[in-house]
Order: sequence, then C-alpha cells, then structure tokens
Amino acid sequence: MNIDALNRNYSKIGSGLIEKMYSEDFLSLGGRASTDILAREAAITQDSRVLDVGCGLGGGSLHLANTIHCHVMGLDIVQSNVDEATVRAKSRALDHLVSFHQGDATAMPFADGTFDIIISQDAWCHVPDKDRLVADCARVIAPGGTLAFTDWLQIGEMTAAESAAVDGALVAANIATPDSYGGLLGKHGFTISQQYDTSADYQEQYRAIMVRLESMKDDISETYSPRVYGVMQDTNAIIQRAFEEKKLGGGRIIARKT
Ligand SMILES: C[S@@+](CC[C@H](N)C(=O)[O-])C[C@H]1O[C@@H](n2cnc3c(N)ncnc32)[C@H](O)[C@@H]1O
Repeated sequence: MNIDALNRNYSKIGSGLIEKMYSEDFLSLGGRASTDILAREAAITQDSRVLDVGCGLGGGSLHLANTIHCHVMGLDIVQSNVDEATVRAKSRALDHLVSFHQGDATAMPFADGTFDIIISQDAWCHVPDKDRLVADCARVIAPGGTLAFTDWLQIGEMTAAESAAVDGALVAANIATPDSYGGLLGKHGFTISQQYDTSADYQEQYRAIMVRLESMKDDISETYSPRVYGVMQDTNAIIQRAFEEKKLGGGRIIARKT
C-alpha cells in the first residue's frame, strides 16, 4: 500500500493545490460534469443510497446531494481529505445527506449490500490490489446495484522506466488497461453495460491544467517556494507527455451487479 505517498500527495496543501489546478471541490479531471454523467448513466435518484469511493474533497458526493438530494457516503483513505469534505458538507447544509468516512477501498468499513450505487472518479488508479477493490465493491453493493466509475488507464506500451515515472507522478499502482477491468468485474459478478474511451477528453483537459499551473507560478513560488513550483511542473509534465504520446488515457465504465 502506497499510503505514505498518498498522504503526501493529498495532504491539506497538496489537495488544495490540485483543486486549484483542476476545479472547485475536485481532484479529478472530469469534475462536476463527470459526476453528472455518472449519475445519469447509473440512474441515481433521490432514493438511491450512494457510495463515492475515493471521494477526495467530496466533490462528487456534495454535488449529488446538492442536485439529486440522495444520501451519499464518501470514503477516502486520506484523513485530511475526509476532514475537509466534512467541513464543506456542514458549511453547505448538506450534512443531513452526505457523510464522509476514512477508510481503505479494499477493506471497506460497511456491511454487505449497503449501497444501491457506487460511483468513483479517477481513484482506482491509486489502488494496487484491484481484485480486492472490485471484490469489496461487489460485497457492499446490493444485488441489482450499479457501479459507475472513471479511471486513468494505460492505453499504449510503456517502457519499465516510463511506467515507473508515471506511477511516481500519479502515485498510481498497476494502472488498468481498457480491457483489464472487464475480466475483474465479471469475476466478481458485475456485467458491464457501457464502456467509454475518454482518452481524448483527458488529453485536452490536461493541456488546460498545464496552462492553469503556469498561471499559478508566481503564487506558488511566493507562497511555498520556486522549488515547489518546479517539482509540480516536472511531475505534471511527465503525465502530460504520457497523454500526448497516447500511452495514458481514461475510461468510464458502467456495470450492474447481478
Ligand atoms: C484523483 S483523487 C479523486 C478524488 C475525487 N474522486 C474527485 O473526483 O475529486 C483520488 C482519491 O482517491 C483516494 N484513494 C486512493 N487510494 C484509496 C484507497 N485505497 N481507498 C480509499 N481512497 C483512496 C485518494 O486519497 C484521493 O483522494
């Protein structure tokens, strides 16, 4: 488990900087628009009991509660993300619908069949043991429930050095390929109903993120140090190169639990 690296990457300061580069409340590329798509494709209603796996600062959970008024539980392994998401839920008077819990997605602290819907945005790339992750999703989702998630995917060949560089930059482990989730989901009783290639969108969004990072140069250099800005630029350049070379991409999968 890469917990120390995740705690560093998504520390209070780290998540705050990523949110500034990405979008308000979100640490994922698609942000609110992506939550809307997942909600529509999973047919989330006011009565749905939703779990948001790897909820970060709570962007997807808060948005679902605010727009659909369903009950949402956000789970994240990083305590400071959970704390911040909880503050945001309270300050927006959404805490009667949303709550956040610290925990590992491969050993979820929930009873069997607790949720009708599981969503997740760009979190699974961080989880080394995807078999245990999908097994635990299968356990906590009710029969007939829907799993709807986005993830970063490896779409082209990488050398061992490239792969290590991308894993380091993303704090990722065993990044899935467009095909690898199919077998894993099937093994644990899910049937894929829709699978989309979002690589072109991710590539485009990353270009915009690099422009935004550049615009934050003076602010980051003054608030932290020029070295911090340099590290962020180098790290994000590794990811952008992988997108531009079509080695890294994205996907969205909707699957039903039988
Ligand atoms: C790229 S961020 C996305 C956050 C959020 N879904 C969003 O859209 O803003 C990935 C999140 O997954 C969380 N995460 C990584 N590994 C996890 C695990 N094993 N269990 C629970 N959360 C995890 C990280 O702490 C991080 O907050």
